[in-house]
Amino acid sequence: MKIIKIITAALFVAGTFSFASAATADVNFKRCIACHGTKAEKVPPGGTIASATLTADEIKQTLRSYKTDKDYGGKMKATMQLQVKPFSEEDLDALAEYIFTNFHIEKK
Ligand code: HEC
Repeated sequence: MKIIKIITAALFVAGTFSFASAATADVNFKRCIACHGTKAEKVPPGGTIASATLTADEIKQTLRSYKTDKDYGGKMKATMQLQVKPFSEEDLDALAEYIFTNFHIEKK
């Protein structure tokens, strides 16, 4: 009986992970809209660049850096440190892919 419980728990965890990557990125992105715009096309208040102009890798690097390096970023970095806090690195990568795939615009 105990074994079955463990297997069920393991399957549940595995399921949650794959779900977290693609399917929840659009839900997670809703938290970003107020400052970054519905298509990540806005320069956030106090920021310098619109996320939609970045590549997926650039967004990944940036988000991971806000999470792991307290010295990373501009004068508004504390805002983003707070934003990335609830997310795992996998969630952040999925968010980066989501933003790039759906909203990317060429730099002017
Ligand atoms: C309360 C406003 C606010 C929210 C909400 C917010 N951001 Fe930001 N974001 C900023 C500001 C301000 C900066 C510039 C920070 C700095 O000075 O380093 C920034 C910077 C960034 C950058 C770096 C480059 C750029 O585009 O300016 C990325 C990428 C980014 N945010 C993604 C996100 C994502 C993804 C979310 C949602 C999980 C999010 N942000 C939520 C305000 C916000």
